[in-house]
Amino acid sequence: MIHVEDLWKEYGSHQVLKGLTLDVIKGETLVILGRSGVGKSVLLKHIIGLAHGDRGFVEIDGVRISDLEEEERYKATLNMGMLFQGAALFDSMNIEENTGFYLKQHGNKETGKKYTKAEIKDRVDHALEMVGLAGTQQKMPSDLSGGMRKRAGLARLIVYRPEYLLYDEPTTGLDPITSMQINELIVETQEQLKTTSVVVTHDIISALFIGDRLALHEDGKIAYVDTPDDFLKIDHPTIEFLRKTISQDPRSFRRKA
Ligand SMILES: Nc1ncnc2c1ncn2[C@@H]1O[C@H](COP(=O)(O)OP(=O)(O)O)[C@@H](O)[C@H]1O
Ligand SMILES: [Mg+2]
Repeated sequence: MIHVEDLWKEYGSHQVLKGLTLDVIKGETLVILGRSGVGKSVLLKHIIGLAHGDRGFVEIDGVRISDLEEEERYKATLNMGMLFQGAALFDSMNIEENTGFYLKQHGNKETGKKYTKAEIKDRVDHALEMVGLAGTQQKMPSDLSGGMRKRAGLARLIVYRPEYLLYDEPTTGLDPITSMQINELIVETQEQLKTTSVVVTHDIISALFIGDRLALHEDGKIAYVDTPDDFLKIDHPTIEFLRKTISQDPRSFRRKA
């Protein structure tokens, strides 16, 4: 499981995290909702060890990664993959090279042994098939649509079979139908790989489709975490707004003249 305890982080004079505490239970998909700029991406970067709190800590399966030296931390987070906003594919590599990148770099995550070219190819083909991109091996990232790039970004992670997957705004910028396909893919990935997932989004439809529990990130903290039904009942302006967007005709939000 992931345990974040009393995490504080300041950038310049901007206090972004203010004693944030959060538990992610093994096997669940936890969705973090919150407005732009509250620090959701910052939180994910702390969980995966790319950023370090001024106070507080992050534990992954009982290992306090925030206390580790760089190399140990790197090893402790090999079991995690993060799908960055925009998918972060390498523009100069084709989809096959992109998807095999981590496998080639790290080798077997348990033994450190290098994979052979044939092993890499097999796993890449399988991962691309899993995300619905079979046959795109020779294409370049710029040949793909936004939704396909997200799929390729996910293939690059699952090829490595991480136990933890972090998704930063996986549906942002996609049209509603493509978004729903990505939501379905997140659920399928979770079912097939039995991952523990944290998904940051401001898309309530996506949150309800994929989340076992929903959390609200606000003012530097996780203000609420609950099951979807109970989360939606919480008396809070942001949650009230989310509730309305799924239950009411948007025309009812128009200000009366
Ligand atoms: N590396 C950084 N240096 C300075 N400020 C940062 C850095 N990373 C994030 N911030 C600031 O932290 C705040 C939260 O950012 P972010 O986590 O990206 O928000 P969001 O909830 O939209 O993902 C923003 O004000 C952002 O400018
Ligand atoms: Mg963000």
